[in-house]
Amino acid sequence: MKITIIGTGYVGLVTGACLAELGNDVFCLDVDQSKIDILNNGGIPIHEPGLEEIVARNRAAGRIRFSTDIEASVTHGDVQFIAVGTPPDEDGSADLKYVLAAARNIGKYMTGFKVVVDKSTVPVGTADRVSAALREELAVRQSHADFSVVSNPEFLKEGAAVEDFMRPDRIVIGCDSSAQGDKARNMMKKLYAPFNRNHERTFWMDVRSAEFTKYAANAMLATRISFMNELANLADHVGADIEAVRHGIGSDPRIGHSFLYAGCGYGGSCFPKDVQALERTAQDYGLNLLILNAVEAVNARQKQILGNKILKRFDNKLVGKHFAIWGLAFKPNTDDMRAASSRVLLGELLRSGATVAVYDPVSMAEARRVFELDFYDAPELLDAIRYASSPMDALDQADALAIVTEWKAFRSPDFDQLKARLKQPVIFDGRNLFDPTVMNELGIEYHGIGRSVLTHK
Ligand code: NAI
Repeated sequence: MKITIIGTGYVGLVTGACLAELGNDVFCLDVDQSKIDILNNGGIPIHEPGLEEIVARNRAAGRIRFSTDIEASVTHGDVQFIAVGTPPDEDGSADLKYVLAAARNIGKYMTGFKVVVDKSTVPVGTADRVSAALREELAVRQSHADFSVVSNPEFLKEGAAVEDFMRPDRIVIGCDSSAQGDKARNMMKKLYAPFNRNHERTFWMDVRSAEFTKYAANAMLATRISFMNELANLADHVGADIEAVRHGIGSDPRIGHSFLYAGCGYGGSCFPKDVQALERTAQDYGLNLLILNAVEAVNARQKQILGNKILKRFDNKLVGKHFAIWGLAFKPNTDDMRAASSRVLLGELLRSGATVAVYDPVSMAEARRVFELDFYDAPELLDAIRYASSPMDALDQADALAIVTEWKAFRSPDFDQLKARLKQPVIFDGRNLFDPTVMNELGIEYHGIGRSVLTHK
């Protein structure tokens, strides 16, 4: 099938590459010329395991191309995926300006029937606004071209995006019940048929329910994280081990093991903005989502937990102290720094007068770019950051190590070397990578999240 992807970011590029891999003829559009140049020169603008190979293979086979040519992109695809960003507006609601601009561009140039797919995460009711934008543009041209707007939210996880797209646990598609909707449903059925070969993974529903499903999923996941973080903070006080508690409750199939990890808060491009946007949607209808208010508040507090533990341990005196940070990306296997907890910790340490050496396996360049923006009002703080060349290099002469991202490379360090390099063997572990008992045996002062069981013995 002929497919156009509008917005060649994380979601758009993965969607385009994977659909090309299945034999479709894919046109990826972006307004960012530099991204398109990177792709046309054989590179990829993001770090995502397995993606570079798929893009290269399908480019060579002529199944995927990258361009900024809007008219050509509209002409190409019978199915037009909108996969542009939906960042939070000032009031927390999803800013739809990129989605609606993409819709208008389709309306400006389309001639025959188009299925317009909202792949971006968009609030309930957006498909109606996309339809209205298309209709307005068609009216300007007095065109009678026909279309149907479909909701097909994406559930991939950065760091495992290709695998998630190729082996989805579910595909959610919302179509309306008009004749155009039926036509769109049939085309989407054909497009997604390879994913449903062994068993049906598609959940067909109305458009609004599909739009809602994406927010419900992210809000539920964020809730589990904040819930466990809240319990972990209590565990720290009462002398229980949140990891033991996690196993104890996760074995109940009604609860399950996934997403029960306490830590130093969630970040990324999705959970923070999607929780906010859902709260905002509720407010538009005069409702106040109390649980989600708390989820957000707990997360904001949790992002400060490492900084607070460090301040407490060093009697609020960080001037002249030096710290190592392992992990800057908001989670492993990505270079994405959006809303990363490392940014909060770094800010707290630097603004308290400490110096910091940071290390991340892939996001060093992105981190540098982001920190320059974070500290644009205090450029002198940038001089207090050293970008280390390896995890061990980051440790030299540090008063403590703080771990923010659970990269595999950090899970079994050479503890002898770690102790030798640190000024004193102190670890603040924001992802609970290590066993406090083992740390105790190694002579390492260990501060996890919800794991102060040893100090209560
Ligand atoms: P992104 O920021 O990585 O990519 C968006 C791309 O769209 C950018 O390259 C931008 O230049 C381009 N763009 C903006 N306006 C355009 C236009 N009018 N025409 C063509 N290109 C345009 O964003 P990302 O992370 O891919 O997210 C896209 C959407 O997917 C968001 O709604 C997000 O919430 C959702 N989503 C993101 C996931 C993730 O893990 N990143 C997972 C699931 C959904």
